[in-house]
Amino acid sequence: MDLSGFLENLGKSDRVFLSLVGDVSGKEVLEIGCGNGLLTVYLALAGANVTAIDDSQVAVENTRSLAEFNDVGSRIDVYKMDAMELGDRGDLEASFDLVVGRFILHHIEPFQRFSWVLNKVLKKGGKGIFLENNARNPLLMFFRRFVVGRFGIPKYGDSQERPFHPSEVEVLKRSFGRVEVHYPEVMFFSLVGAYVFRANPVAMRVSNKIDDFIYSRVPAVHKYSYRQIVKLEKS
Ligand SMILES: C[S@@+](CC[C@H](N)C(=O)[O-])C[C@H]1O[C@@H](n2cnc3c(N)ncnc32)[C@H](O)[C@@H]1O
Repeated sequence: MDLSGFLENLGKSDRVFLSLVGDVSGKEVLEIGCGNGLLTVYLALAGANVTAIDDSQVAVENTRSLAEFNDVGSRIDVYKMDAMELGDRGDLEASFDLVVGRFILHHIEPFQRFSWVLNKVLKKGGKGIFLENNARNPLLMFFRRFVVGRFGIPKYGDSQERPFHPSEVEVLKRSFGRVEVHYPEVMFFSLVGAYVFRANPVAMRVSNKIDDFIYSRVPAVHKYSYRQIVKLEKS
């Protein structure tokens, strides 16, 4: 599989995420929780030397195959590893200009220790950029907890999973000189529509338009969006 489909179908959050990632040519980049390997391969094609880890063997194999298919196997090292183990790898200390991840931070426990691990593997001045779901909106959290999985509304994640919490952003602020949170889009009605109307195309078009309207007119609610990008820098 080449990456044209991935790039053509990028949503707003991914587009903003990649623009924050910026030029990676010649950089040492770590992706945590590489999953299917699309981001890893994208980064290698953009000229980065990428180390990718995932605690799933299937993810590691998929990432290796995608790298070979796209002729970037030589720029990518893939390991089956829990994120926390990075802290035990002396050889990876202060190794990375950039650490990235999509929907991974909320999987990692205990998060305080991980914040230390992240600090350890980054070079001075190195950055971390993570796309995550956001637990700040009490209405969405209520919907997630009490509505999803009932009344015929499907549940997609497992019961242990929860979105990344503002208190975890505070944990990062204690370890890093600079932490910013970006809200690349309002995702509220589109999320409810995806569940309640099972992504019916008309319902999705309408709910996306409402979210876009809110995003352009009411900046004060951006922080309640279900999507966020956390960007940090090691001073
Ligand atoms: C929600 S998926 C996201 C995958 C990919 N980043 C994407 O955006 O498609 C989370 C991924 O992180 C991996 N993962 C979960 N916990 C992990 C941990 N503690 N250390 C390393 N990888 C982990 C899972 O195996 C899975 O591939």
